[in-house]
Amino acid sequence: MSITEALEIIDSIPIPAFAVLSDARIAAANEEAISLLGSQILNRHYVTALRQPGILAAIDNSIRTMGRASGTYTITSESGDERYKVVATPLGTGSAKATLVCFENISDLHTAGLMRRDFVANVSHELRTPLTAVVGFIETLRGPARNDPEAQDRFLGMMLKESQRMNRLVDDLLSLSRVEAAERQRPSDPVSIREVVEASISSLAKPLQEAEVEITFDIPDADIELQGDRDQLRQVMNNLLENALKYGAQGGMIRIKVYEVGHDALLRTKAARVEVTDSGLGIDPIHLPRLTERFYRIDEHRSREMGGTGLGLAIVKHIVSRHRGRIEIDSTKGKGSRFSIIIPVL
Ligand SMILES: Nc1ncnc2c1ncn2[C@@H]1O[C@H](COP(=O)(O)OP(=O)(O)O)[C@@H](O)[C@H]1O
Ligand SMILES: [Mg+2]
Repeated sequence: MSITEALEIIDSIPIPAFAVLSDARIAAANEEAISLLGSQILNRHYVTALRQPGILAAIDNSIRTMGRASGTYTITSESGDERYKVVATPLGTGSAKATLVCFENISDLHTAGLMRRDFVANVSHELRTPLTAVVGFIETLRGPARNDPEAQDRFLGMMLKESQRMNRLVDDLLSLSRVEAAERQRPSDPVSIREVVEASISSLAKPLQEAEVEITFDIPDADIELQGDRDQLRQVMNNLLENALKYGAQGGMIRIKVYEVGHDALLRTKAARVEVTDSGLGIDPIHLPRLTERFYRIDEHRSREMGGTGLGLAIVKHIVSRHRGRIEIDSTKGKGSRFSIIIPVL
């Protein structure tokens, strides 16, 4: 293939691409490259047109070694940075040489990497807090409390509480990773919504009773059935009920309402709606968009106090999305909250 033919092909490459000719000028930039870098790059020396060390080194290396070389290029705009992986490859042989430069947008990968690092940092922090406490208690037990059975008992109690917190955190992390692993598989058990809600209420019977909360359950006589994952849907109900109990019980009332909607406007299908309403603290609207993020809590101290891990709603979100459903949160600060789960019914 001649170099002219090779340059013509650049137009049909579906990502930004151009060639650097043997006189070091940029030629044959495709439409994608022009819209990314502007038409002023054409016929300019690549060093003055591109200016970022990463991409310049890649092109240099490719020319020098007559091999493939890669680097990165960042475009900064008002809406944030876009990162590109740049690959420079030699084109043609003999005197008619050129270097093909292609740009692959890796912003999403980069963001995923940042999220993973954030996640690891969060988990470490969450584990460190109870661990530090336990280590402190052990030191106290071996030192100042050595001969004080009453203090020993108290410290052992606190150690138990911190250890249980670590256990819950690990349980929730494992649930989250199991749900994520199965997220692409469609769940297929026949599930009765009535049974899910009843199982969840009875598993929380003791704390509900202790908190003296009145719970009302409103479901049509004809049960609603859907295709789902029974254990996961129970977990959704448990997490929502637990939250209603922890953050909403002040009102003394929790209401669960289940009904079928003929056509959910957003899901565009028949759906089951499960609403958990409490009359407690309520949530300031500024928190709503982030509430289902991992480790997001409105009041970190309170959540810890209540034994929360900050993962409950993140788990709910993943499970609901595996069921191709959606979550709605309505809340008025000081009045209470309503968490609704809307899941397609076949
Ligand atoms: N029913 C509710 N009323 C008020 N705030 C709530 C309610 N449910 C959840 N929240 C807020 O959302 C946060 C995240 O909930 P979640 O993911 O279940 O974590 P956790 O309960 O472990 O703190 C809670 O810390 C709390 O601040
Ligand atoms: Mg919770």
